[in-house]
Amino acid sequence: MPGVVLAAKNEEGAEPVAATAALASTLMSDARAVTVFEGELTDTAPVGSAIGTVDGRHEPVRVPAHRYVSSEFARLEQERLWPRVWQIACPVDLVRQPGDFYDHTIGTLSVIVVRGGDGVLRAFQNVCRHRGNELCHGSGEGLTELRCGYHRWCWDLEGRLREVPSRKGFGVLRNDDYGLAPVQVGEWSGLVWVNLDPLADPLGEFLEALPSDTAWTRPDEYVCRAVVTTALPCNWKTGIDAFSETYHVQGIHREMIPSTDDVNSLTRIWGLHGALTQPYGIPSPRLRHGATPQEIWESFWRQQGERIGVSSRDEPGPHPPIPAGSTIRDVIEARLRSTATAAGADVVGFDSEQVMTLSQYNVFPNVTLLYLVEGFTVLRMRPGPTPDECLMDVFSYRRITDADDRRAQPRPPVVTVPAEHAPLGLVFSQDIANLQRAQRGLHQPSFTHLTLSHEERRITNLHRNLERHLGIEPSEVTGGQPWETASWQ
Ligand code: FES
Ligand SMILES: [Fe+2]
Repeated sequence: MPGVVLAAKNEEGAEPVAATAALASTLMSDARAVTVFEGELTDTAPVGSAIGTVDGRHEPVRVPAHRYVSSEFARLEQERLWPRVWQIACPVDLVRQPGDFYDHTIGTLSVIVVRGGDGVLRAFQNVCRHRGNELCHGSGEGLTELRCGYHRWCWDLEGRLREVPSRKGFGVLRNDDYGLAPVQVGEWSGLVWVNLDPLADPLGEFLEALPSDTAWTRPDEYVCRAVVTTALPCNWKTGIDAFSETYHVQGIHREMIPSTDDVNSLTRIWGLHGALTQPYGIPSPRLRHGATPQEIWESFWRQQGERIGVSSRDEPGPHPPIPAGSTIRDVIEARLRSTATAAGADVVGFDSEQVMTLSQYNVFPNVTLLYLVEGFTVLRMRPGPTPDECLMDVFSYRRITDADDRRAQPRPPVVTVPAEHAPLGLVFSQDIANLQRAQRGLHQPSFTHLTLSHEERRITNLHRNLERHLGIEPSEVTGGQPWETASWQ
């Protein structure tokens, strides 16, 4: 039987220009030097739902800093977290057809996701049962078998051993005893999820309220346009923490302040996961004197210009006329709807709040899902070779409402690019630029603990769940609200 070249398409070499262009067109605005917004901020803004209030008797939450820099802690994660937790492997769009495959690696672990000839999606540990060679690398299509490159043992796509060269030398070797090790697999929101623990609770239980809470977005209409991986100089938790609070908007994303209410962003936590709902088109209450329609227009243009059909590199100019009885937010909403519609997204059924809001979900432990009406982005942080490194994967989706048009979309390119070449948009690029500083600071001897506000409670929730998964008892997280009341709003 002829073998299939498993290295197949990808990854480093494959169509980086197309992938990064697709990413640039689906994230917010282009990164470039912008004028920092100089509006005066106040520290006495009303306490909104993003900040929340805590019982005055409680101390701030404190989390040991060594969790972000210690090799010992990273080893504990490798042993007890990654082999047991549900995690995203890849977009479903990468494994739609029989023979499509994707190799999901996390630390030392590797899982092959493959669509069988029978149309069933399966996942296996990526290891040959002869002498442990890795079976498969990268992603691709057209696979008809899983053949080890070392001594050419061969399995079918259902994981059954089919062929052993010079079989007689092994004595009695039964194919049925040498199937590939199955991995639990599931699908939700255009994503393939895997869990290496055969005894883990089903995916539906792990996801808690996420499917019901996101059902309004019609997640099946999103199509993946690109998967881009970038190495970052920080711990995976330093990376994901930057997407788990909006406290830093007034520090790092000053341009957002006139058009983003970072104070009244509904924040929720279930058990493992959390969510933030962030309104756009209105100024932050942190702005002492509010913002004029022109300031709101310029702010939205600079951070999210592509969403309203303009290049954020261009100068905004005066805002469009505002009809009587309307606001600049209404004007932006109308532009956003027409831009989305022109790109094939039916957004008529979404109300104003849904169109002008970012719905962000923090999925334990290492993912954030960002839903906009016209697009969907997955940000995943994977551990790197040392605690000071990680891999950031961005899966970028567009809404395409017509089912035939969706099916006609090409398989998304999968590429790895250096951080400086990743077209991550202004806001993400600001986050990324700060991560190395955030990681280096964590090494300083005087810095023993992070001190967290209620506004950063999604980070606290990560750590409380993390230590539960790692078997750390008693809890090393002190202060804050009691764990029993963790489902704070
Ligand atoms: S290690 Fe795979 S065939 Fe030998
Ligand atoms: Fe940020």
